[in-house]
Amino acid sequence: MRRTKCCLLLFVLLIHNGCCIKWLALGHSSNEIQQPWTREACTGLRSAGILERKQARACRAAPEVMPSLVQAAIDTSAVCQHSFRNRRWNCSNIERAPDYTPELLTGTREQAFVYAMSAAAAVWRLARGCALGSLASCSCATPPRREPPSPSALTSAFSASSITFGGLASRSSFKWGGCGDDVRSASRIAKRFLQGASPPAFGSTGKFLHAVNMHNHRAGRRAVEQSLSLECKCHGVSGSCSVRTCWRGLGSSGPAVAGARLLRRYATAAEVRPRSGGRLPPLYHHDNLLYTTKSPDYCSPDKNRGSLGTIGRQCNGSSSGYEGCEYLCCGRGHVTKTEEILERCECKYISCCYVKCKTCRSIVKTYECN
Ligand SMILES: *[C@@H]1O[C@H](CO)[C@@H](O)[C@H](O)[C@H]1NC(C)=O
Ligand SMILES: *[C@@H]1O[C@H](CO)[C@@H](O)[C@H](O)[C@H]1NC(C)=O
Repeated sequence: MRRTKCCLLLFVLLIHNGCCIKWLALGHSSNEIQQPWTREACTGLRSAGILERKQARACRAAPEVMPSLVQAAIDTSAVCQHSFRNRRWNCSNIERAPDYTPELLTGTREQAFVYAMSAAAAVWRLARGCALGSLASCSCATPPRREPPSPSALTSAFSASSITFGGLASRSSFKWGGCGDDVRSASRIAKRFLQGASPPAFGSTGKFLHAVNMHNHRAGRRAVEQSLSLECKCHGVSGSCSVRTCWRGLGSSGPAVAGARLLRRYATAAEVRPRSGGRLPPLYHHDNLLYTTKSPDYCSPDKNRGSLGTIGRQCNGSSSGYEGCEYLCCGRGHVTKTEEILERCECKYISCCYVKCKTCRSIVKTYECN
């Protein structure tokens, strides 16, 4: 009896919980043919289980947001797999969207990262869409109300940026201008789309997990707001920079910036337990990632928990970090393979159209987990 009840509960959980990241399947290349975003395309994605009902409605009502979301889905997968490439859990299961494995359904720390990252990528790409003028409901951010920072403060703020003002900094004037990234509007659009799913109608565990998922979404959106930095452009006679306009922008490196922030939060994620009514305990800061289920150690294959195991994974023989054989292979040891690589080398230019090369051999050692 107990067992049936437990399985039923798990079943209910699994039905509801993939809810809000199924749209990550938009990033699969086969979906690129969905464009243009007609009503039929949106409805088709609903039937394919990639969009929730409310998301499909949003897609039909504002199809212009869809290209940003497709890009966000691609980014989420790329940033996640890059961030975790050397770890036991390497995020490869994200590619299974919309049919997720249990570790991305049961409220683990990994799920928290993916939810947060997907929201961050969505806000980022939507904000770019706003600035490019491709979305109807937003454009550039309203400039901050406060005065621009004083020139001296500015020079130090810029030490990490690509723009340097040299000695001119203190003499040139500064005004808000350009096109600031409208992260606030983008965040609103992303929220409407991502939280399009309602919490499960029954089961307090499901409700609680939904609340946790929504919290992690918000943490992801906030990570983008926190990634805004001051960007400026110089004006004036022959680059004298006597006037410059500045705005708060997201820079050109893409959502990976927010991903790095979220990866740090993944390390310090907090476990939460349900309280009555399926609500979140109030003491957690907005920026924290939260999880409800302890992760497996991902050492050996376990289908029921979403662990692929690390057998056959490449590891680093001299590192003591996550990618080191010691940790990655979970103490099972590893095999060392030596491979001889032949390459063209020491090429000499003989005459037009003819280059003579030698063949060099090098030995490359690779390590693989048992
Ligand atoms: C990720 O881990 C899985 C399971 O161990 C493995 O099959 C896959 O090759 C890994 N992917 C990368 C990019 O290392
Ligand atoms: C292995 O780890 C060492 C030490 O961290 C590092 O210097 C080296 O580049 C790594 N090798 C590979 C192939 O990643």
